[in-house]
Amino acid sequence: PHIPVITIDGPTASGKGTVAQKVAQHLGFHYLDSGALYRLTALSVMRRDIPLDDEHALAKAAEHLHCHFNGAHIFLANEDVSNDIRAEAVGNLASKIAAIPTVRQALFGLQLSFRQHPGLVADGRDMGTVIFPHAGLKVFLTASVEARAQRRYKQLIDKGFSANMEDLSKDLTERDARDSNRSSAPLKAAEGAYLLDTSAMTVDQAVAQVLGWYAASK
Ligand code: C5P
Repeated sequence: PHIPVITIDGPTASGKGTVAQKVAQHLGFHYLDSGALYRLTALSVMRRDIPLDDEHALAKAAEHLHCHFNGAHIFLANEDVSNDIRAEAVGNLASKIAAIPTVRQALFGLQLSFRQHPGLVADGRDMGTVIFPHAGLKVFLTASVEARAQRRYKQLIDKGFSANMEDLSKDLTERDARDSNRSSAPLKAAEGAYLLDTSAMTVDQAVAQVLGWYAASK
């Protein structure tokens, strides 16, 4: 039986996670936050002091990721790391190790396993291009650097981290460049993806647009 998939890809802090979760909730679908898998790998690498040039050990860390998801909570082994993985340092390291093909390969099967009845909404960088190329609906969600820096700022402050707008804009721009220019699964709109620029949109407007496209695609 066919299990529908909606992919939502886009740059850092574009709001894709929030939109994807709400779309999933609305449809009663499962949700895959693929960035969280790269962040979990980064956190595990950080804690074990694995050097960035030891590709074999990095790929092993990804392959043996002992993680599980419970609603909004994300666990590494049995520790709730939902907040820890959101730190900028973890995101930056995630983006560095995500450029390594063997690390991506190690996380491939785990991502596919999220496709379960009655459906899946998956967000990330390569959901529509590499992981679920046959998804029934693909969305490429963007927003201006200013809008994204502002959203990330609010997100970090709300989680109790310190942050400043100038550093954040620089971080976002650097991370997007690295994600877009890598040779393995670069950030780009999938063929047939709908473009959604949310700079001037509320979350609810963006969610309504995606749901509208999904209804029309069935
Ligand atoms: O989306 P998020 O900021 O949590 O992702 C962290 C990093 O993980 C990204 O900067 C990107 O390098 C990497 N990533 C990826 N492919 C995905 C999801 C995330 O390379 N599908």
